Parts: sequence; structure tokens; C-alpha cells
Amino acid sequence: MRIDNQHIFLEDVPVTTIADTYGTPTYVYEENRIRNNFRRAFAAFKKYYDDFRFFYAIKACNNLAIAHILKQEGAGIDAASVNEILLAKQLGMGGEDVMFSGNFLSDEDIRQGLDSGVIFNLDDVSLLPRVLTFGKPDVLSFRINPGYGRSNVGDFVTNAGPKAKFGLHPDQVLDAYAAAKEAGITRFGAHMMPGSCVTDADYFAFVTELLMDLIGRAGKELKIDFEFIDLGGGLGIPYKPHEPGLHIEEAAKKVAIMFKEKLDEYGLRPPRLMMEPARYFTGDAGYLVGRVHAIKDSYTRIVGTDIGMNVLARPAMYDAYHHIYVNGREDEPRKPVGLCGQICENTDYWARDRELPEGTQIGDIVVVENAGAYGYVMSYQYNGRLRPAEVLVNGREHYLIREREGFEELTRGVHVPEHLAL
Ligand SMILES: Cc1ncc(COP(=O)(O)O)c(C=O)c1O
Repeated sequence: MRIDNQHIFLEDVPVTTIADTYGTPTYVYEENRIRNNFRRAFAAFKKYYDDFRFFYAIKACNNLAIAHILKQEGAGIDAASVNEILLAKQLGMGGEDVMFSGNFLSDEDIRQGLDSGVIFNLDDVSLLPRVLTFGKPDVLSFRINPGYGRSNVGDFVTNAGPKAKFGLHPDQVLDAYAAAKEAGITRFGAHMMPGSCVTDADYFAFVTELLMDLIGRAGKELKIDFEFIDLGGGLGIPYKPHEPGLHIEEAAKKVAIMFKEKLDEYGLRPPRLMMEPARYFTGDAGYLVGRVHAIKDSYTRIVGTDIGMNVLARPAMYDAYHHIYVNGREDEPRKPVGLCGQICENTDYWARDRELPEGTQIGDIVVVENAGAYGYVMSYQYNGRLRPAEVLVNGREHYLIREREGFEELTRGVHVPEHLAL
């Protein structure tokens, strides 16, 4: 995004063009920024550990156009559900390019996951006998909760540690791999997902050490080699203006040093090092373009836009901060106002005391930053409001990559029994 003479451009496309062509609210993604984010991170890790690969956690932004960009860059896919495995299939990806890290799986999930031939990453040791009733996966990985997690977004998204629902307890790791070996599995991986939006470069080496000590002991004692070790996602981005970002080179260097040190300590054969971020690639490359529809002066001034909790759920879900710009007014003096969407819930009053340009008025276009991860995918139809459109920009070009929902989506699949339709 750039602001030129107070006018906002996404790559080289004016936001007025987006609003006029596609309406509002619309999610917009900058292709070149996604590619640059990926390349910066990949170069950093590859520099310090050659056998390195990223798997893109498609849950963060599941538009196939976006996933194709990351596939072109060389990423595999991290799938959280069978339907995400099917999305990967639509990208032309399967087998060991896809990692299935579901949790609390049903038998049907297990059966379909196995049939698809992707890498199975089990969230709990109790899943192993259930998986084995359907077949024996070629490669098996366990998701390990190394006992510690962290997130800049708060406790809500801390994916590891005692309060998290995910992963094997550290005390179960040895028994889990022993049981898998006993069952005749010969190819192993290991996984964790301890952080979410962490911008402290030291953190990643710290959690790597926790995982590697668990894996190291299991590998040594059971005499098994790991083909890959996946350190999860969690590479953070700054959401607030002036918040420091993650020093990716520093994070990668420290992770690789720790990783190699632990391989040596436990005498493990060097496996592939993997990570499965998403926010770092798409988060700051995505924007929400909306419009001011009403302004009211009550206890305070409240600016109402078509960007509500139904379109961007993160503020209501996690108390997350998203910065907002008003097109054509960024040089004006500011004044604190509240901001809300159009949903009949007070959690839709999603920003309070926000400094907006004082001349902000009905019809103005607003741009919400850092909306490219966990944005569209969490939108929903509450109050009969429909999901927005998604657009990709590249230079001066813009492409519709998902249509705005129409009214028919509200009733699709609904059946009214005959006796009620009289
Ligand atoms: C298993 C797993 N892997 C990867 C990710 C991606 O995380 P992030 O977007 O923070 O990099 C998530 C996000 O929740 C996840 O649950």
C-alpha cells in the first residue's frame, strides 16, 4: 500500500478503482508483497539450513489464487481438515507436498486423510490405533505440545502450553513414537505449533530447543530417524503503527544454530527442516476496502462502515488491533472516534477512541490494514449480511478472485417442509 497525495493505492491500483469496480467491502491482496514476504523468509532459513521447506497454512487465506502464488514460490500445503486437503488437490498438490494437521478427528476424517496419501500429523497418541484400523500411513508425524506457547494476539491464540487443546504432552512423546514403531511404521516426522504472531526473534530458537530435546531423546532411545521436523507457523507481523516487526534473518539464524546443535547432541541424522507459516506471507499483503455509510453523535461520535465483525472477525474474537486509513484525508488533523460495522451486536463496535481524520464523512473509502490472514476465511453471514468479494492486485492490474455473495447464498441448501410453506 502507498499513499500518494492523500490517495491510497494497493500496488498501483487506486482504492477508488477497487470500490467503484467491485463495491465494498472487498478484500484486496497485493501479489508482489506476498511473493516478497515468502522470498525474504525462505532466503533467511535456506541460508542457514539448506534442506528447508515452507508449507503454507491454507487456513489463513484459502483463496486458490493466493494459494497458487505460494505454490509457485515452492511452498507445500498445511491442511487442517479434509476439505483443505481437497483444496490442495485443486492446486494440483497431494502426497508429501501436503501435511494434514487436523485435531479431534472423526473416523471419516481419518479415512479420507489416509486415502489421500498426504502426510499424517497426529494431534494425540489415542489417534494411532484408530488410524491403524483404516491402514498404515507411509510417514507418520506427531504434533507435540512442547509445554510452552506464546502469541502477540493474547491468550486466545496461544497454541501450545498447558492451556492449549493441541498436541501430545511432553511425557507422551516417547511412548507415542514407540507405539508407532511397534506398529510397523518406518518413516517419521515431528511437528509443533507453539506460537502465533510472535515478533521476538529469540522465541523461535527457544521453542526449537524444547522440541528438539523431546525428539532427540525419542530418536536416540528408539533408534529412529526423523525425515522432517516441522516447527509450525507463528512468524509474526506488526499490527500497530510503529510496532517493531520480526527480524526474520535473526530468527532463522538462531533456529538453525539451535537445530544443528541438538542434532549433534542427540546424534540424529539431519532431517528436513520445515515450517508452516501463513500470516507472515499473506497478513500484511491483504487489505479490506470499505465505505463509511453513517456517522452518529451520541455519547461519542461513531463512524459506521460496512466493515463489521461479520467481515473481519478478529477484533471481536481476539480484541485484535487493525489500523484504518481514510482515503483522501490522511493529512487532515485527527480526532478520536469509535468505529463500528452494521451488525446488531455491540462487539461489532470494534474500535474505540481511534484517531481518524476529522473531516471523515459518509461516502469516504476506508482501508483496513493487515487483513490478509484470518480475514475472509472467518467472515460469515450473520444479520443477513453477505460475504465480501476478494480481489488480487499486481501492478496496475486487478483481478476478481472471489465473487461477492449474492442473496441466493443465504438460502442455498435450505429446505422448508411442505406443511410449513402453506
Ligand atoms: C497447525 C498450524 N500450523 C500453522 C498455522 C499458521 O500460523 P501463522 O499464521 O501464525 O503462521 C496455524 C495457525 O493457526 C496452525 O494451527
